[in-house]
Order: sequence, then C-alpha cells, then structure tokens
Amino acid sequence: MSYILIAGVVVLVVVAYMLGKRSTNDHVNSCVDKHKPKVVSTVDIEDLSDATAFCRCWKSGKFPYCDGSHNKHNKGCGDNVGPLLLNRRS
Ligand code: FES
Repeated sequence: MSYILIAGVVVLVVVAYMLGKRSTNDHVNSCVDKHKPKVVSTVDIEDLSDATAFCRCWKSGKFPYCDGSHNKHNKGCGDNVGPLLLNRRS
C-alpha cells in the first residue's frame, strides 16, 4: 500500500515538474543574438532607403532586416509570416 502511495507522489511530482518547465520550443527567437538578455534594434530614420523590409519572423541572418528567410520557415512549418515593409512617400 505504501509503495502505491509513494509511486503516486512521484508521479505527481514529475507531472508538476513537466508542467512547470518551459520548453525552448516556446521561444520565438531561435537564432538572433542569443547571447544577449534582450534583443533591441535601433535604426536611424535617415538611414532608411525608399523601401526597407524589417524581419518579423526572427530567422533573418541580417536581423532586424528581412533576408527572405521567412520563406524557408513558412515552407517548413506552414506558417505565414512575412516582413514589415516601410515605404517612403515620394
Ligand atoms: S526574414 Fe524574417 S520576415 Fe523575412
């Protein structure tokens, strides 16, 4: 009887641990500046060209700019993310 009680407690502890543990699969950012506690990007408005694409998928090798990596990501998992396009009015 006590073995069943101990086994039940162990199962509850393991389940509580698994529920409380956050997986790295929860992370949006899988590759950009992972050594930093927070990724903050600054771009001066004066440095923008007439059309600039900013990454919103966090897969770009040129982050914060889009390099087209979202296409591979979307094909791989069926997602539909794409860049933020800033266009200068003429
Ligand atoms: S590479 Fe991330 S939105 Fe294009």
